[in-house]
Amino acid sequence: MSDEGLSRRRLLGVSGTAAVAGVVAGATTAGALAQRGNAVSRGDEATAAGAPTSTAATAPALDAPIPFRGEHQAGIVTPAQDRLHFVALDVVTKDRVQLQQLLEDWTRAAERMTAGAEAAPGGLVGGGPNRAPEDTGEAFGLPASGLTITIGYGPSLFDDRFGLASRRPAALQDLPAFTGDQLDPRRTRGDLCIQACANDPQVAVHAVRNLVRLGFGVVAVRWSQLGFGRTSSTSTTQATPRNLFGFKDGTNNVKAEEPEGLAQHVWVAPQDEPHGGAWMAGGSYLVARRIRMHIEVWDRTSLQEQEDVIGRDKKEGAPLGQSKEFDTPDFSRKGPDGGPAIPVNAHVRLAHESQLGGIRILRRGYNFTDGSDGVGHLDAGLFFVAYMRNPGKQFVPMQRALAKADVLNEYIEHNGSAVFACPPGLGDGEHWGKALFG
Ligand code: HEM
Repeated sequence: MSDEGLSRRRLLGVSGTAAVAGVVAGATTAGALAQRGNAVSRGDEATAAGAPTSTAATAPALDAPIPFRGEHQAGIVTPAQDRLHFVALDVVTKDRVQLQQLLEDWTRAAERMTAGAEAAPGGLVGGGPNRAPEDTGEAFGLPASGLTITIGYGPSLFDDRFGLASRRPAALQDLPAFTGDQLDPRRTRGDLCIQACANDPQVAVHAVRNLVRLGFGVVAVRWSQLGFGRTSSTSTTQATPRNLFGFKDGTNNVKAEEPEGLAQHVWVAPQDEPHGGAWMAGGSYLVARRIRMHIEVWDRTSLQEQEDVIGRDKKEGAPLGQSKEFDTPDFSRKGPDGGPAIPVNAHVRLAHESQLGGIRILRRGYNFTDGSDGVGHLDAGLFFVAYMRNPGKQFVPMQRALAKADVLNEYIEHNGSAVFACPPGLGDGEHWGKALFG
């Protein structure tokens, strides 16, 4: 089902199961079976997890479960859900076996939660009155809500603590410093990351909370980010959303229905990592950047200036000088004053593959507003998340080009940054960490 035509108000109403049944047409039987609070057996979850994730002819219903297992991890080409809870963690133990065990425990809990079940079979009360409940409870009664849980390993995980140095993929390198970076060390790096996306914020937050709880004594949260409102489409079944500058974002993105583009730009190929990182084949690299947007300055900027900065018109999202959102940008077209219709320093010109030797990435970011900065401004922006085959060959040259010349830089500030290797998807019976540890 396309989410075109579903108003934002209706989208926000996804949290109540009763409301969902009326609002979201086409909810699957598996989705109904998988509602939290119903007795969900492993067999039911398997039914819910039957279809492959890599291509999607129609977007899933907003409350439906997304298959957890498959060739690739869910949460990458899955039609971008509306809500995000992203967390970067540090491993606090030096015990390799404890880390392996946690990854196995996380797999079990993640599979259950993505199917709409509680984190553990005991649920809210199974452990009895004298033990802490096995599930924290706040998602009880809520449907699966399209929850995906995607895991990634940061460069620091491959130091000398866990004997993983020889398993480090060559493409997993810390990002270099970029011109204009204002990175806050409290929002950078991490041994591990978990990206939880869902169409209900409570479901995404519940997932991260329960995984962190399971990791007590093994991992600790380093930093985290909530996102409301996707800023990208990752499927042609989705309408293009808008970012906090009010522009359509995600028009020219690598999308799920483009297998050749995904193979070329998103999935790690077997030949990419001939040595210790061979386990990454079928995986992808995640680059996260917390980008503050100075929306007060932007809101005083004229429409013409805003459109010149982006290189597209605000209402339709068409490349400047053209008429439709999905028109291929024509960078040679002249504007009314005889200069280029899309200015030479416009964001979409500099980020376009034609200017970057064919480089593309899959963007999957979210809007955020984290209160205010104490001096009268909102701390708002775009939590940029992108997936790619090799950050050093894709994100780095793209961001260098943008950092150097993009007029958008007058309105934004990158203050968080991290890169993670997201392993391939799991087959039946497999668990996270198996491929990594070998
Ligand atoms: C707050 C920061 C940013 C804002 C507000 C922003 C906004 C936009 C908008 C409105 C578009 C046009 C619609 C579209 O094709 O999706 C766009 C396109 C794009 N952006 Fe950004 N962007 C930001 C940061 C970045 C960063 C950090 C990168 C990568 C390093 C990036 C890469 C791209 C790419 C590759 C495109 C598609 C260009 C094309 O091929 O036409 N953006 N962005």
